[in-house]
Amino acid sequence: MSTALVILAAGKGTRMNSDLPKVLHEIAGAPMLVHAMKAGATLDPERTVVVAGHGFDAVQAAAQDHDPEAQVVLQAEQNGTGHAVMVTREALAGFEGDVVVLFGDTPFIQPETLQRMTAARADHAVVVLGFDADTSEKYGRLVMEDDALKAIVEYADASEDIRQINFCNSGVMLAKSDVLFDLLDAINNENASGEYYLTDVVKTANDAGLTATAVSCDETETMGVNSRAHLAEAETAFQTRARAALMADGVTLVDPNTTWLSHDTVIGRDTVIEPHVFFGPDVTVESGVRIRAFSHLEGAHVSRGGVVGPYARLRPGTELAEDVKIGNFVETKNAIIDEGAKVNHLSYVGDAHVGEKSNIGAGTITCNYDGVLKHKTTIGKNAFIGSNTMLVAPVTIGDDAMTASGSVITKSVEDGALALARAQQVSKPNMARKLFEMLRAKKAKQTKGKV
Ligand code: UD1
Ligand code: MG
Repeated sequence: MSTALVILAAGKGTRMNSDLPKVLHEIAGAPMLVHAMKAGATLDPERTVVVAGHGFDAVQAAAQDHDPEAQVVLQAEQNGTGHAVMVTREALAGFEGDVVVLFGDTPFIQPETLQRMTAARADHAVVVLGFDADTSEKYGRLVMEDDALKAIVEYADASEDIRQINFCNSGVMLAKSDVLFDLLDAINNENASGEYYLTDVVKTANDAGLTATAVSCDETETMGVNSRAHLAEAETAFQTRARAALMADGVTLVDPNTTWLSHDTVIGRDTVIEPHVFFGPDVTVESGVRIRAFSHLEGAHVSRGGVVGPYARLRPGTELAEDVKIGNFVETKNAIIDEGAKVNHLSYVGDAHVGEKSNIGAGTITCNYDGVLKHKTTIGKNAFIGSNTMLVAPVTIGDDAMTASGSVITKSVEDGALALARAQQVSKPNMARKLFEMLRAKKAKQTKGKV
């Protein structure tokens, strides 16, 4: 059966106390909405529809940035979760498969859980995802009779008896498209909140002689984010899970609690991550690499055998070939560094190509920005860039070339050449001693008479 994904994301999220729509707050470097879309995408949906309201333009941009095919529909007034699904009717016109409804602020639904829901659909018209909750939370309660789900009662509308039930509604629902819209036509907003509740389709299904059931999952999966405190908890939950997954895949995290990962971090087997390393979005690290302590990486690729850090910063567009060494206090950006090259200390390499086995001395700077435009530095193979060289781009250093320490290189250097671009040294015999004497005498005069 084909599926369509509907993600509800129109709510304001008042408790976030933010100008940013709630679903755009990030966990592990990606908006919550994208986490929900990624979870739903594991069902290989034929269509994806995001329902947006508050911050429509920003939500639309984020949804389509992640999936250009996603349709984003406007729910101008937030009249409830049932109403939110009703506004997708046109976007789903002609679609005949199952509709999966997810919430944009519930980012951690696992693919395996969605699979179990799909399986349960074989025997029931409506499948809901439930979890055993701490009853102090105001979730909708699932009224079960054996395997059959008879109704979902919202907390605000529930009697004391119903509130004692701790099997709760996560918000995820699965039903065949035409059935779902027919059932939605039969609900009303006569309840404590004056809203159209998606949850009411369970009762209308039962009334119509159809059956519903609930699949159960762990509460951590259905964790909804309503406040900054929840956001921080969700971040921790993501990190804990992602770290465990990497370790299971054969990555050593020396101190897992201090490894910060992004939603898309990829790290190969037998790579070692020392304490306090931050992975921003879009980083791939191959096998057998060592990322040393206190390094910060984003938009970078590190190939086999690489050693990065301690205290290195790899910025977007960094591409390190095999066996490259990037040492302490080195920043790279938009830099392709070929096999075996070394940038060991205190350098900035930006908008640059460094050829294989070249050595970039301490304190080298590629001066890539003239205040208006960016320019490129190209360094050949086996070159030796002396310490404290300023490479004023655009500039090219040939294969097997050298630059003298302290040089300011403004013109290209041909293959095999040595470029010296610094003032000539002048040495004056005995001058230092004379100077010391003069200065000490001056100091003695100044301090005379003072206690
Ligand atoms: C909902 C469920 C409740 C469940 C709980 C789990 C209903 C009626 N209630 O309650 O049973 O236990 O989630 O967290 O479904 N949204 C819209 N448009 C609207 C209203 C909501 O897009 O008009 C979106 C929100 O942005 C959010 C999601 O739907 O992503 C859930 O809405 P929310 O108001 O948080 O529902 P709850 O009251 O928490
Ligand atoms: Mg909620």
